Amino acid sequence: MGVRFKGWGIAVPDRIVTNDELSKTLDTSDEWITERTGIRERRIGGSAKSLGVLAGQRAMDDAGVTAGDIDFLVLATTTPDRIAPATAPMIANELGLTCPAMDVNAACSGFMYAVRTAYGLLETGNKRILVIGAEHLSRWVDWSDRNMAVLLADGAGATVLEYDANQTDLMSFCLGADGAAADLLTCEHGGFFQMNGREIFRRAVRVVVDSSEKAMATAGITADDLSLVIPHQANIRIIQAATQRLGIEMERAVVVLDRYGNTSSASIPLAFDDARKNGRIKPGEYALLTGFGAGLTWASAVVRWS
Ligand code: UT7
Repeated sequence: MGVRFKGWGIAVPDRIVTNDELSKTLDTSDEWITERTGIRERRIGGSAKSLGVLAGQRAMDDAGVTAGDIDFLVLATTTPDRIAPATAPMIANELGLTCPAMDVNAACSGFMYAVRTAYGLLETGNKRILVIGAEHLSRWVDWSDRNMAVLLADGAGATVLEYDANQTDLMSFCLGADGAAADLLTCEHGGFFQMNGREIFRRAVRVVVDSSEKAMATAGITADDLSLVIPHQANIRIIQAATQRLGIEMERAVVVLDRYGNTSSASIPLAFDDARKNGRIKPGEYALLTGFGAGLTWASAVVRWS
């Protein structure tokens, strides 16, 4: 069976927070943040719902579809507006959708988990699915904690996935989860994000490389066949280490974290949209989408752009 990406849309808050601005209230510096993470500025504001609505509408417009054409909404978010109800039905309501709508939480792997879920839904009779990754991470950041405050940010990205009997953009997946590592990156009820950055870093490189190799093997391609790598945007050094181990030069990696920081489940669609707008994805070419996050979770997929 085939699944095609029909359209993309993104939304980020207007408010730009630079490293220099953070350095005024935190014991940090533009030099440290840029060198250790690659992040130069980030967008702060909005909510999972408001950003998700904007990105979702833009993806539907880009796909040339209207509310009645969407059979299912899958929202990836780690930061729903409320514990209950889920944020997806509220986004659906704003978009005029009357279809089923649900949240998926796989942290920074969330968008890829949502795409995998949508793939399964298309396999079983649905025609068109709106997949959104939307995050309001800044709400759960302790702004006096330099460890997290310099990293996390807000944003949303969305795509419309459509069943196609004849061709497919999605060649393979490799997803995984290891709950034994749950305590490495957490946000408790009423609390803030906390993490063991060094350990997450070490494991992230390992699971990204391993799941990427498996996804490529399933798709029947090698790293040489890839035009692009579209990784989760957590840290430039994680992207450098993983691509180096995969034998892919950095020129083939899409990097938007310098502008957007780590937006969790919004980061892969933000990067995909950027690559598409800059003409970096051409018909017939292969791209590797790969993410990891709290859980731990990880998810890689090979895409062949039609
Ligand atoms: O989205 C998925 C989840 N998150 C991630 O993928 C993040 C993975 N981890 C990382 O990206 C990196 O580990 C960090 C960016 C979080 C930290 O970078 P690092 O190179 O691993 O730094 P470190 O934790 O080893 O800290 C080095 C030093 C420490 O000082 P001492 O102990 O050497 O004196 C930290 O206290 O840097 C200090 N430090 C800072 N200094 C200035 C930590 N955060 C900051 C900061 N500004 N914001």
